[in-house]
Amino acid sequence: MNAFPPVRRWCIRFIVVLLLLPGTALAQQARAADDAALPPGAAVASAHALATQAGLDILAAGGNAFDAAVAVSAALSVVEPISSGIGGGGFFLMHDKASGRDVFIDARETAPRSGTPEAYLDKDGELDRDRATNGPWAAGIPGLPAALVHVSDKYGRLPLAQSLAPAIRIAREGFEVYPRMARGYAGRREVMQRYPGTRAIYEADGKPIQTGDRFRQPDLARTLEALAARGHDGFYKGDVARRLLAGVRAEGGQWQASDLADYKVVEREPLRFNYHDWEVVTAPPPSSGGVALAQMLQVLAPYDLPAMEEAARTHVVVEAMRRAYRDRTFYLGDPDFVTIPMRTLTSAEYAAGLRATIHPEKATPSEMLSGQPTPLEDEETTHFSIIDADGNRVAATQTVNLLYGSGLIPPGTGVLLNNEMDDFALRPGTPNAFGVMGFDANAPEPGKRMLSSMTPTFMVSPDRIAVLGTPGGTRIITMVLLGVLGYDAGLGAEAVAALPRYHHQWLPDAIGTESGALSPATVAKLREMGHTVQVPDEEGSGDTGRRSSHVWGNFNTVLWDLRRDVMEASADPRYAEGRGTVVER
Ligand code: GLY
Repeated sequence: MNAFPPVRRWCIRFIVVLLLLPGTALAQQARAADDAALPPGAAVASAHALATQAGLDILAAGGNAFDAAVAVSAALSVVEPISSGIGGGGFFLMHDKASGRDVFIDARETAPRSGTPEAYLDKDGELDRDRATNGPWAAGIPGLPAALVHVSDKYGRLPLAQSLAPAIRIAREGFEVYPRMARGYAGRREVMQRYPGTRAIYEADGKPIQTGDRFRQPDLARTLEALAARGHDGFYKGDVARRLLAGVRAEGGQWQASDLADYKVVEREPLRFNYHDWEVVTAPPPSSGGVALAQMLQVLAPYDLPAMEEAARTHVVVEAMRRAYRDRTFYLGDPDFVTIPMRTLTSAEYAAGLRATIHPEKATPSEMLSGQPTPLEDEETTHFSIIDADGNRVAATQTVNLLYGSGLIPPGTGVLLNNEMDDFALRPGTPNAFGVMGFDANAPEPGKRMLSSMTPTFMVSPDRIAVLGTPGGTRIITMVLLGVLGYDAGLGAEAVAALPRYHHQWLPDAIGTESGALSPATVAKLREMGHTVQVPDEEGSGDTGRRSSHVWGNFNTVLWDLRRDVMEASADPRYAEGRGTVVER
């Protein structure tokens, strides 16, 4: 399947543009266009129609994109607990039109004081995978509640209570269970039913939730009300905090009151670089996404990708992926705890060096094979995109890590805790649930943020402004890469959200693909070049079978086309419950 429209002379255009404008001038020109115009309306795209509607309602009530982001984020926490929630964390990339400023709100979870590497080893010194992914030890200190308060207080126009109201109403009144949610529960039930607080909600009638059931979360409504009334202290101190601590300790965990009380979001400078005539603004560490995206796009910039034959194009894209993920393994972690060679990793010179090692017709073998399958996931984590009628924008990706996080809801809170501790390199060199490993840079330490792949991103050119992102574990970064390449090739929001996906993450040394993402002829050519290509449903291709015909990601994106003065919003067509909506002025 060809992911790009007919051949376009990008190289010529790129060289002409480069000759005319140095990179910084391009970025300035892109920003000037952004500053000059106002969009013809507002656009919201998220993974659930009720969350998109919550955002639209808050915009209609006079809120800005940041109020709407609080409303969408909180509503997703209620209606998509499989993917994210106030028991987890996330990243909000935000552009404030009035000041022209971009800011990255880091609401990643932190390790509790008890979260030391030794705590995750079994008696033989091996990684205790149950502890790493299920129950109280798997959970980091949640960051999303602090982000909702911070974004609303500092950037919103409406009171926090107003922006949280849709989520509180939906939690109390309930909503209809959809197939992805019921299927996910069936898959995680063995763990989730261990915990009485979880059983009380997911098996309230004595049987597991089913598609079509009305799903009510009155405890979660009360917790959100405490947040609305008391801000940060409503979650991190007082009654909710006491119940969270009691629930964690009842299951053998060791959170302390100060772990919660000390939690703070961090405002970071986003990472920015140029790709063709776009300025790309994206996630800095503790996400690995922006660094990897900068590396991959700068490696790929001189190639005329849309003009290349599919196998040759896929080959160079995969080689760029392989090299970026190798660096992720060794260098990236929480920038407040480790020194990351950012300037080198994101420089054009370093990218040129990486590019020089790519053989045009042969796969570069990754240095060793981990023997780990690529992960079964994609329904965890969620992403939403917003542009308001004033030109403010938000790209937010939030998560509880794996499906339904740790599975543990401390009784009386309605808060499903994440299992983000598995995103640390709990045992150096041992792959986590996503098949990626790490070393010292991403070792757990009290208060440290675990490395993430979440990559909320803006693309800004003189002609078009796109807001994009997706869930998908370590595949997030490569899906965002394919999205950037799609917009760069001239596609609209719907086509970009629908793009077929493939991925390489250095180890395991294999290209993973969605069903039908690459034509059989391309797969054959890639194999001739020395690539291992895992094709769902194909006997003996290395696919585990569990992933057969599994779709990847949930890409929710909005686009403002300044030339045509139109906006587009697209939820990922892979799932029925998402919704992208444009509202004209
Ligand atoms: N938990 C997935 C990520 O943050 O990358």
